[in-house]
Amino acid sequence: MPLRGALHYGALPLSSRYLLSPLAGFTTLPFRRIVRRIGGVGLATTDLVNSRALLSRNERTMQMVETHPEDRPFAVQIFGSEPEIMADAARMLLEHGVDTIDINMGCPVNRIAGAGSGAGMMCNTDSTLKLVQTVVEAVSIPISVKMRLGWDSSQLSAPFFARQFEQIGVAAVAIHGRTREQGFGGTVSLPGIRAVVEAVEKIPVIGNGDIRNVADAARMLKETGCHGVSVGRAALANPWIFRQLVEWEQTGSYAPAGTFDERLQLMLQQYTCLEERHGSERAIIRFRKMAHWYLKGMKVPASLRHEFQGARTMAEIEALLERISQQGPQTGDRDALPDMHIPVPNGPLDKW
Ligand SMILES: Cc1cc2nc3c(=O)[nH]c(=O)nc-3n(C[C@H](O)[C@H](O)[C@H](O)COP(=O)(O)O)c2cc1C
Repeated sequence: MPLRGALHYGALPLSSRYLLSPLAGFTTLPFRRIVRRIGGVGLATTDLVNSRALLSRNERTMQMVETHPEDRPFAVQIFGSEPEIMADAARMLLEHGVDTIDINMGCPVNRIAGAGSGAGMMCNTDSTLKLVQTVVEAVSIPISVKMRLGWDSSQLSAPFFARQFEQIGVAAVAIHGRTREQGFGGTVSLPGIRAVVEAVEKIPVIGNGDIRNVADAARMLKETGCHGVSVGRAALANPWIFRQLVEWEQTGSYAPAGTFDERLQLMLQQYTCLEERHGSERAIIRFRKMAHWYLKGMKVPASLRHEFQGARTMAEIEALLERISQQGPQTGDRDALPDMHIPVPNGPLDKW
């Protein structure tokens, strides 16, 4: 099946059909900026933001909706269960200069789904349609909804919701091809995503889940007929994936992902974005967790990883990255993709 035409969210044109999927705690502004610099990203979204916290202008929440000229077009993802609060949050985001707003209808964790937000919205048709319609009517910018296939395998309600959403003016639907009950286990159902594509008339459907490389994306596009795909966890291990996808679409082939040294350069760029915003003292503290995790995935020896945690200034960070580059990875080759382990909730669902 040929690829669909250029992707639009309502009147908002997107430069590619390859989107960065939100990963709370990871797809922060510094990460989004470096992925955008590499190229190929049609749209990137903030982590899910609490609509009530947004209205109270909670400091941490306001930081979550910060953006930068490099980070355009810019989407904020909100969650909540009260239509008027969600609509007020949307109005506030419009004033804030956001290009498009995504409603989270897929988050499986109890704190959110149990309170009727996130995936919990899949359990209540009338109140969900009312909430989404209230948000759509509140603002002039496009509204999208990101959801799962359904609550469990006996209630695959995503096609129904997608059709209803289109009728009330939603501009796009993103669909993670698992049920809430599956959490992050099992496999993504391409027929399930396809059923959503077939349920709508015109609005774009974005397929999501388990895309690790160009071949996986090509398969999802071909087998589901979706208009675009969004990539989450694989973008952390391979931030070049969006550029590869665009190259593949345009030429049929694509350049390999960046090397070990290019990854180190990206780390420095990510740190620099943090320092620009927060100053070195706070930037270093914020960067430690991310740096540890990058360096571990890149098989950097524990002693150097440890030293990195003690770095205090940009000059120390640069000197350490230089030494890490000279030493190279402990195992594997310098060009292999790192094996990044992204923590996902696991264990019994009622404990999430
Ligand atoms: C650590 C983590 C955080 C996530 N945070 C969000 C979030 O804030 N909003 C959201 O809609 N989905 C969130 N997701 C789901 C992802 O966006 C995506 O739907 C899912 O990981 C499947 O895509 P992938 O296999 O490409 O990662 C999160 C997933 C993970 C693993």
